[in-house]
Amino acid sequence: MTTYKLLLLPGDGIGPEVMTEVQKVADLLGQAGIAQFETEQGLVGGAAYDAHGKAISDADMDLAQAADAILLGAVGGPKWDGVPYEVRPESGLFRLRKDLTLFANLRPAMCYPALADASSLKRELVEGLDIMIVRELTGGIYFGEPKEIIDLGNGQKRGIDTQIYDTYEIERVGRVAFEMARKRTNRVTSSEKRNVMKTGVLWKEVITALHQREYADVALDHQLADSLGMQLVRQPKQFDVIVTDNLFGDILSDVVAMLTGSIGMLPSASLGEVDPKTGKRPALYEPVHGSAPDITGKGIANPIAMINSFAMCLRYSFGLGEAADQVEMAIANVLAAGLRTADIRHGIGAIASTAQMSAAILVELKKLLG
Ligand code: IPM
Ligand code: MG
Repeated sequence: MTTYKLLLLPGDGIGPEVMTEVQKVADLLGQAGIAQFETEQGLVGGAAYDAHGKAISDADMDLAQAADAILLGAVGGPKWDGVPYEVRPESGLFRLRKDLTLFANLRPAMCYPALADASSLKRELVEGLDIMIVRELTGGIYFGEPKEIIDLGNGQKRGIDTQIYDTYEIERVGRVAFEMARKRTNRVTSSEKRNVMKTGVLWKEVITALHQREYADVALDHQLADSLGMQLVRQPKQFDVIVTDNLFGDILSDVVAMLTGSIGMLPSASLGEVDPKTGKRPALYEPVHGSAPDITGKGIANPIAMINSFAMCLRYSFGLGEAADQVEMAIANVLAAGLRTADIRHGIGAIASTAQMSAAILVELKKLLG
């Protein structure tokens, strides 16, 4: 049985609560003989700031570099609103993304039939929805320099952020999107604002050239990011894979998440380049939902996004596609049977706690593992 090294970074808010539940899933797969997971724990975000005055320590970065995959809960919360910008909780996440070059952020959005009524859109618009957003994660306005506020000396200040993209950055994330599309329904929508931004002009040019050169079998279209936002709430099922930059991807993935009924459901994977020598690919898996300070400590957070993130880890980092299918199936079965955490409850019915939801998923998974 192969042993995989997992680094667990529970982080802040509901992060530790959902991390506790996903560990039970890993343990069950271990007991079933699927694979052995060797886990280590580290601190990230506000939790790391409280302990070391930094949003992630160098020692935990070393663990991250050495791990086969990282599972992260969430970072941030009002407690750290006043901390210096350089060490705010989110900076831990950015260091992980940047130092491990996790340039491709996969954010799948599927609408479970059982949850179609929890969506803010009509059932017929979202039932069966299956979109994969591929967000560029290590470039653009998140990291471009200069990034500063300068004092103009006349009572005015100037805030500056810089959007920068080089050809290789667009090309490598484009490649991930085209490869992904080939395993799905073979369609890619590339999105930018070429009507306003030079990076948008280059984005389209690079994606078009890559398509012609290597992926002409995939259907490609280009949409301005504002118009794509509109189309996503008008007729979301028209899309398969969407590839876009860091900032547009951040915004559009929240929109798409909400179409599925709850942001508490959705996983993400952040992947780097495969090392040709070791075959290893740096990877971090985290729920899209964030730290949810409003429900922290109440035991009611939905653990599904975290468990789904682990399923992505099984699939993309460990090649355990069948086990990933089984975890996803266990979740779908529990939802179909009517169990709901507070965030996905539509109308009346009992509310399951975090622990009850994961316990039900474990029972289903045990059955499926045989
Ligand atoms: C995300 C989050 C982060 C981002 C925050 C927490 C900095 O919104 O992963 O989508 O903007 O990238
Ligand atoms: Mg976001």
